Amino acid sequence: MCGIVGYVGNKEAYPIIIDGLKKLEYRGYDSSGVALLHDHSIQLFKKKGRVSALEETVVGEKLTATIGIGHTRWATHGAPSDRNAHPHYSNSKSIAMIHNGIIENYSQLKAELITKGYIFHSDTDSEVLLNFIEDIKINNNSTLEEAVRIALKRVTGAYVILLIDIDLPDTIIAARKGSPLVIGIGDNEHFLGSDASPMLAYTKDVVYINDYELAIITSNELILKNIGNERVTPFIQRLDLNLSQIEKGGYEHFMLKEIFEQPQTINDSFRGRLDVSAHSITLSGLDTVLTKLDQAQRIVIVGCGTSWHAGLLAEYIIEELCRINVEVEYASEFRYRNPIITDKDFIIAVSQSGETADTLVALEKAKGKGATIFGVVNVVGSSIARLADAGMYTHAGPEIGVASTKAFTAQVVALILFALKVANHKRTITDERYKQLIEQLSEVPTMVEWIFATQLEKIKHIAYKYANAKDFLYLGRGYNFPIALEGALKLKEISYIHAEGYPAAEMKHGPIALVDDTLPIVFVATKDSYHEKIVSNMQEVKAREGRVIAVISVGDELTKDIADDYIEVPYADEIISPLLSTIPLQLLSYYIGVSKGLNVDMPRNLAKSVTVE
Ligand code: M6R
Repeated sequence: MCGIVGYVGNKEAYPIIIDGLKKLEYRGYDSSGVALLHDHSIQLFKKKGRVSALEETVVGEKLTATIGIGHTRWATHGAPSDRNAHPHYSNSKSIAMIHNGIIENYSQLKAELITKGYIFHSDTDSEVLLNFIEDIKINNNSTLEEAVRIALKRVTGAYVILLIDIDLPDTIIAARKGSPLVIGIGDNEHFLGSDASPMLAYTKDVVYINDYELAIITSNELILKNIGNERVTPFIQRLDLNLSQIEKGGYEHFMLKEIFEQPQTINDSFRGRLDVSAHSITLSGLDTVLTKLDQAQRIVIVGCGTSWHAGLLAEYIIEELCRINVEVEYASEFRYRNPIITDKDFIIAVSQSGETADTLVALEKAKGKGATIFGVVNVVGSSIARLADAGMYTHAGPEIGVASTKAFTAQVVALILFALKVANHKRTITDERYKQLIEQLSEVPTMVEWIFATQLEKIKHIAYKYANAKDFLYLGRGYNFPIALEGALKLKEISYIHAEGYPAAEMKHGPIALVDDTLPIVFVATKDSYHEKIVSNMQEVKAREGRVIAVISVGDELTKDIADDYIEVPYADEIISPLLSTIPLQLLSYYIGVSKGLNVDMPRNLAKSVTVE
């Protein structure tokens, strides 16, 4: 999704902005641009393609400005092109603006502006907003700040905007609603970004801007106001992040680095929470809303994509361990279908970025109806984390690869801890099982290491063997059904091979028609209470000459004999086992994508953080 960067201070702005744009490349984009303000004039450069293409367009230019804004665009209104790239000029060319989000009533505003003689040089909603602001500024004879405030009151949609104006040679004006904006506080300088990564090399003191806030930023001052023009005190937070966490650290791709980080990130999500010797789980966020949960009639889990898969797995686990009714909702459906929500509902929001627009709006809706919101979020200080009544961070660290890997396992760990804690509190689990699950959970990092140490070559071999397949089917039952869905999603994202996940027993109700000797079918078939059933499904596929790749528990000789290819994972309780069976599927997608020469970190059309609906 679009990335925004800004700088005002005493250093040259251009290298800081370009470096910041590169840090945001992981979000996904199709064009980029920069606008610099110097001596009451604006230099503006923009280009379709990578940031490196933008860099080529400025070769030979004198770029000494100490204030500027930069953007990576992910197309919504208007195809990826030089003209639709940001920043945009206003009609008078005295203001430049970048925008992340969607202006829903842009066509109405555009029609008004056309009748006034405005000319548009792009197909974007953003240029409409910019000229709307300029029109107010000219006609009301107002300052840019006032014009922005008036314009935003008429705008529907989501935005973060940054503007520079030749009349304000040392100021950036910024505003936010629904899309993320972070401001870094330096020594007589300020940094702006869609997240903190562009500013990490310079400062760890940041302010997360809230919806309906407007910032007036010079090198030595940050003035924050609400849309009603009242001053708001900026809340400065110190980030607990460092640069090495967002660099590749010797790996060829972020995705591979993040897959291999999982023993560490899983341990990190235990830290301060899981005390194995005392068999205790501390979740202070949950404690604050435990009464609400006790009174709740049901839990509703809301998320998108991979986070939705973690939620689906949590449904199985929470219902089994806690005996509470759980429903799992795609946030994008939930937000529009007038769901029946009351103050007796307990909503769990699952999100890596904490900025997914569909999830955010779904939660705002549920909160408006009195529900309690519990966030399971990775990015500290993100919009969903701040909207939630309580929650737990997943502590996976920054995830740069667009395909979620370590964030998924961290979500699952967080949700298992949640379920165990609640089950123990409600006495719906025996002490023996509770202790056994805690002990096994603590062993997961070592078990993941075992997979890396023993299965890697086999996974690579399977990846190369099947890389030319046109379609894949992923099948699982029970706790492994969400893992099958996640495996198929990973393959689609990374290799562009069509893949479908299905509950294995549903195969005979339709997908079995697809089975022939060209179709690889990945069975997630670890030893659990469904094992015999899924082995029967495997036999059904073999009887029709299908190609079976099985993820099995170590030493499962019977299943090995049926499968064409198999990958082993350590045996674990069926509640813990999905954390293991997902690892080979991540690696399988990764190596298939790499073997096809694809950009696995930034697959086409995808964005890391989907901040538009
Ligand atoms: O940041 P979120 O967890 O809210 O993002 C949700 C989905 O957009 C995300 O999981 C997406 O499906 C990933 N590309 C999966 O790899």
